[in-house]
Amino acid sequence: MKQTILVTGGTGFIGSHTTVELIQAGYNVVIADNLSNSKREVIGGIKKITGIEPAFEFIDLCNKEATREMLQRYRIDGIIHFAASKAVGESVEKPLMYYRNNITSLVNLLELMPEHNIKGVIFSSSCTVYGQPRPENLPVTEDAPHQKATSPYGNTKEINEQIIQDYIHSGAPIKSIVLRYFNPIGAHPSALIGELPNGKPNNLIPYVTQTAMGILEQLTIFGNDYDTPDGTCIRDYIYVVDLAKAHVAAMTRVLKKDTAALEYFNIGTGRGNSTREIVETFEKATGVKLNYTYGPRRAGDIEKIWGDCTKANTILGWKADTPLEDVLVSAWKWQLKLREDGVM
Ligand code: WQD
Repeated sequence: MKQTILVTGGTGFIGSHTTVELIQAGYNVVIADNLSNSKREVIGGIKKITGIEPAFEFIDLCNKEATREMLQRYRIDGIIHFAASKAVGESVEKPLMYYRNNITSLVNLLELMPEHNIKGVIFSSSCTVYGQPRPENLPVTEDAPHQKATSPYGNTKEINEQIIQDYIHSGAPIKSIVLRYFNPIGAHPSALIGELPNGKPNNLIPYVTQTAMGILEQLTIFGNDYDTPDGTCIRDYIYVVDLAKAHVAAMTRVLKKDTAALEYFNIGTGRGNSTREIVETFEKATGVKLNYTYGPRRAGDIEKIWGDCTKANTILGWKADTPLEDVLVSAWKWQLKLREDGVM
């Protein structure tokens, strides 16, 4: 009997790629999304790739009664919870919206899981909980100290991790795996789904590809006076398809009976690349010259972080192995497809 997974935020960037991998791994998927930062047309892309159209529920997960009624319509075995507001800058301007949305939705889902005999939940967390690791703590491991969040967005990730831990330690009949990802980038190789930020992008890669396409005038590299080899920030950029596969591995594990009630995994490549390296690799891999300049540091940016992902490699049997050049080409192919389709 196929197991059914509820993917909240499933029309979003990571959620849509994870839905594809879940379907291709033999799971049924129900997507729950409020379409506040994604488009329903993404479902069509998922269907074109997999041949299967996942069920879709247009819902605000902060509405507990509506969420309960939705769960009653399906037999859900597990949940992957992506749905959340995720723009660092916006969270500073609208903190209460972030606390209400990101925390209420999780609490509702956790409260409803036992009622519907849902055994496992994968939580989409972030390396942001580590803040700026000390130099001796790089690459950062799962037991590295957490630093005070530098934004309400990052704080909601920290609070949500604590909520899951406290709920499970209270004896709740559920299990959870918390995945702390680094920087998800790229697009599905089919170019049928990818990252489609509303308005001007905050994240680096959509800014790069939109500049390369001429939609944006110039990329500004935020700061070249950091204590790094080329002076620009360092991040662990992970291919979104590799990240999606990590979720399938985690979902399979959390639904097993004999694993721990709560586990944490870093999901990254284990390597760091600077902003300048990303720009130069993009130009080399695509043959497209980028118009960029150096500007002042961006408030809230940390200097350097990359993950020690040995735990996920050994316990989940998962590894991010797509070469950076191929990942950046996938992002560019997606941007070309958006132009071909008249989207931007
Ligand atoms: C990456 C690097 C910038 C844009 C955040 C969240 C993380 C996750 C991903 C949600 C930084 C530099 C960027 C630009 C630049 N959130 N940059 N010029 O801030 O590392 O991570 O987004 O999924 O939880 O913390 O990602 O892509 O914004 O920036 O120089 O126009 O690119 O300074 O060093 P970030 P980012």
